Amino acid sequence: MGLIKQLVTDAYGVALTRYSTPSEGAPVPKAKDALVAAMVQDGYAVLAASRFREAARRWHVPGANRVLRLFQTVFYGIEIGNQVELGEGVNFAHTLGIVIGGDAKIGARVKFLGNNTVGTAKDNGYPIIEDDVVIGCGARILGPVRIGRGAIIGANAVVVTDLPPGAVAAGIPAKVLKIVPSKAAGVDALAQANGEHAPLGGHVARASNGAIDDGTHANGSTPKGSSHAASANGANGANGVHANGAVTPSSKPDAGAS
Ligand SMILES: CC(C)(COP(=O)(O)OP(=O)(O)OC[C@H]1O[C@@H](n2cnc3c(N)ncnc32)[C@H](O)[C@@H]1OP(=O)(O)O)[C@@H](O)C(=O)NCCC(=O)NCCS
Repeated sequence: MGLIKQLVTDAYGVALTRYSTPSEGAPVPKAKDALVAAMVQDGYAVLAASRFREAARRWHVPGANRVLRLFQTVFYGIEIGNQVELGEGVNFAHTLGIVIGGDAKIGARVKFLGNNTVGTAKDNGYPIIEDDVVIGCGARILGPVRIGRGAIIGANAVVVTDLPPGAVAAGIPAKVLKIVPSKAAGVDALAQANGEHAPLGGHVARASNGAIDDGTHANGSTPKGSSHAASANGANGANGVHANGAVTPSSKPDAGAS
């Protein structure tokens, strides 16, 4: 995805998660909402800086990645490693104290509520966080764990094991309090319920057999901004979304979809 298109898509994603999560029935954002989110949200400035960092590395602009990384840390108190993948519209609702390291993968519209760590536990790998996850303030996610789509992680939780889609988890170590299927369905369910195309694509896909696919292809390349959310697992199937395992085609943010 080109830089400009990526920035526009990110603005729609941040607008969608600004006041609630997609599964709480947040309305599909209009162009005006995306513009406002881009102009007023500190988190959007951080995300945009990350997109410029990605572009600077792609284009081999000497020093630019380093300068932008320092900009994020000095002005917004956030550290994001070079290898980290950020999905569309990741929302840093509060930027202070966030550290995301290694090759952690953060899905589309994941919402950080501040002072979070996403990193390794003991040099054993980094988390994969699926789309539409909400990470409560102070929560830490450590090690090679997968956080299922739409999970909600409670304030100050320390997550060191996988969480299923739609899980609400809290504590140290974090335990699942309950599963909320509508949260597991995320933004696709909202769009389908409204009879619309999904306004935004996903980042970390779920394969039709229910297994999680981190989007890394056989050749080791990861399609940037790839937008595919396929699912035939019980959580999504239960409410009729993607029960046949069909893949939702990538769709652009579209004011007409609102
Ligand atoms: C985890 C959370 C989502 C749970 O919400 P919920 O599903 O409505 O759960 P409840 O409030 O019914 O609590 C269920 C149980 O978990 C406990 N609990 C709730 N949040 C907890 C937390 N962060 N850590 C440990 N235990 C927690 C409750 O005390 C309750 O325990 P009990 O059954 O022994 O009485 C919510 O409490 C939370 O932490 N949200 C994050 C908020 C945040 O980060 N805000 C930042 C704003 S800037």
